Amino acid sequence: MTEERLATGIASVDRLLGGGLETESVTEVYGEGGSGKTLFCLEVGTRVAREGRWVFYVDTEGVSVDRLRAIAGDGLEKILKRFLLSTPKSLEEQGRAVATACALTREGKRPVGLIVIDSATFYYRLSLSGSDEDDARQALSLALADLVVTALDAHVPVIITNQVWRSLQSGTLEPLGGSFLNHVAKTILRFDRLPGPRRRAVLLKHRSLPEGSAEFRITNSGLEGPLPP
Ligand code: GTP
Ligand code: MG
Repeated sequence: MTEERLATGIASVDRLLGGGLETESVTEVYGEGGSGKTLFCLEVGTRVAREGRWVFYVDTEGVSVDRLRAIAGDGLEKILKRFLLSTPKSLEEQGRAVATACALTREGKRPVGLIVIDSATFYYRLSLSGSDEDDARQALSLALADLVVTALDAHVPVIITNQVWRSLQSGTLEPLGGSFLNHVAKTILRFDRLPGPRRRAVLLKHRSLPEGSAEFRITNSGLEGPLPP
């Protein structure tokens, strides 16, 4: 087991994570709409790209370049060159995008520093109401398994985001994808909305750290989580 970490640059979250994201496994971030999942992915991706490494970014939402510009500032052009962005329009296309990202990462010709799938479950969720539910589950499982192996083989951190549904029984927000997704992710973070720009990251699962939480906030230039003085 490695102790290597990729710092997110958000001090409070890095402290919660013992320095940052694990570099050989999948981190899941789930939470309700507007909780900051996409901003988090962009923030970490920008940091990796700024250091000259490549970022495979599979985007099912349509990342706005304006949002990236706000985070990247003057360095936007350089950062965009390092972002290998794909915008799949179906679960099948998403599967192909993930397979390509994994294959090229393992090939190792380019120094890849991060793989992001935001969100991993958007098209999966859409497929759940159809007759092809089993196919959807299988497609998602294959893609996630590929990501697990790639993270381990290539020592590259993977972030997947996940949407939530409200359990009628308990009233709580639960991640989509059930137990399989929970097993795939070695680190699980839930993002909660607090009043105004404040957000909370809750560490629910980690291989070597206890559960805990950290506050951060959304600003015009990204996410900030200052440590108390
Ligand atoms: P879904 O994809 O809908 O599930 O949401 P998400 O969790 O990905 O949320 P996202 O990262 O898109 O965060 C959106 C939140 O950031 C919203 O509450 C926006 O109002 C807020 N936001 C986005 N840009 C800015 C900004 O420049 N300044 C401030 N203060 N807030 C912003
Ligand atoms: Mg989002």
